[in-house]
Amino acid sequence: MDKATVEQVWRNDKDHLLHPFAEFPRFAEAGSRIFDRAEGVHVFGSDGKAYLDGIGGLWCVNIGYGRPEMAKAIADQALQLPYYNTFTDMTSPPAANLAAKLAELAPGDVNHVFFTCSGSASNDTAVRLAQYYFNRQGKTSKTRIIARENAYHGSTYLAASLTGIRPNHDGFHTLLDGDDPLIHHAAEPNMYRRPDGMPEDQYCDFLMADLEALIEKVGADNIACFIAEPIIGAGGVKVAPTGYHARAKAICERNDILYISDEVVTSFGRLGHFFASKAVFDVVPDIIATAKGISSGYVPLGATLFSDKIFEVISSPDIGGKPFSHGFTYSGHPVACAAALKNIEIIESESICEHVQEVGPYLEAQLETFLDLPIVGDVRGSHLMMALEFVSDKAEKSSFGLDVAIGKRIATHAYQNGLIARNVGDYIILSPPLILDRENIDTLISTLRGAIEATMTDLTNENIWQLS
Ligand SMILES: Cc1ncc(COP(=O)(O)O)c(C=O)c1O
Repeated sequence: MDKATVEQVWRNDKDHLLHPFAEFPRFAEAGSRIFDRAEGVHVFGSDGKAYLDGIGGLWCVNIGYGRPEMAKAIADQALQLPYYNTFTDMTSPPAANLAAKLAELAPGDVNHVFFTCSGSASNDTAVRLAQYYFNRQGKTSKTRIIARENAYHGSTYLAASLTGIRPNHDGFHTLLDGDDPLIHHAAEPNMYRRPDGMPEDQYCDFLMADLEALIEKVGADNIACFIAEPIIGAGGVKVAPTGYHARAKAICERNDILYISDEVVTSFGRLGHFFASKAVFDVVPDIIATAKGISSGYVPLGATLFSDKIFEVISSPDIGGKPFSHGFTYSGHPVACAAALKNIEIIESESICEHVQEVGPYLEAQLETFLDLPIVGDVRGSHLMMALEFVSDKAEKSSFGLDVAIGKRIATHAYQNGLIARNVGDYIILSPPLILDRENIDTLISTLRGAIEATMTDLTNENIWQLS
């Protein structure tokens, strides 16, 4: 783009575009960074500079950028049938074929699919489906939802309320408010900050006891579902203790509570499998919410997958043919479904899950070397879903505090040196395209280490922190 065009875009954006999670004072000063091209694992700024995309767009560009096959699949479908609705009894080949393909890839008896346009809407759909399932059985009080502290489930009214990242609720009304809230949050699994000296298995017991106590308090007769990300993502990439999900599922089963797995981030290869629930965590959920990697972000698409057990109830003749009154204009959008089918074909034909199984542990091992740096408190995650937590004192695990904006400082240095990393509070989060290779990982590691070291120098020079 020439200089005048760049300036016009920058001005249009600054004057008219309200950004998701906008930070107003900084934005008022600096406006936006413009990206106008991408290829493979790199995005290019409007100044032509290449950045290694350490965050895969936003946990989503799994197959990487610039795939001509994707562009062709999207264009071909737009010419063939750009849109038709899937309400009641209408369909299109991409919608039907993608539903069948997802049923094949999903674990256990998860054989039914409802299409949405985002992760938030997939979670909304999951919860509405759970409530509907119990309502149709006459269990009308089973409406409440158990989510978890620091979970991220999206930004619609319902998904934002499911979200347990408290600062996200600031200034908004949520479904947590009132005397008899719809949503309750159980403790998050946080291995790094678990009670001092507590072994992993005891910590798991502790979390299960917390979950059971909450179910007891709210009353199993009042609860429709429990929702959990296999690994908490935006809330700091928190891996639960071994056995956590299988035990939580067993508790749900004992209490007639549906288990929803929010696999918006973890599905389509990020942990080395199409779905992580069963393959990694040994759980067949009742409902799986997905989005992002389903189309590698080339077009918006989400899906809520659910079990035969749920389908049998909601479609039962006993219900008297009552309709399932839930749907979006763009549910099963033919172009989005065609893109997802091509995306899945690429993941399969290029063995991308196997590639992640190979490079994932390499990224983990390389990041773990950062533990020699005095401000790196924790390195965690799995495969291509990783985070670093920064602390001012390792022994005390003390936070730098919001004012220091440690994550932002490190992300800024990384960006100046050609790496996009995501800062959230005291964390740096990494979720690169799944096609990155060892050489890309080496570049990512050296750039990020340099950024952390440069930040330590800044903090020392500004008298904020000293090496003790
Ligand atoms: C685990 C999880 N669930 C749901 C969402 C919401 O997805 P979307 O932004 O597509 O609505 C996200 C987004 O990052 C997510 O990480």
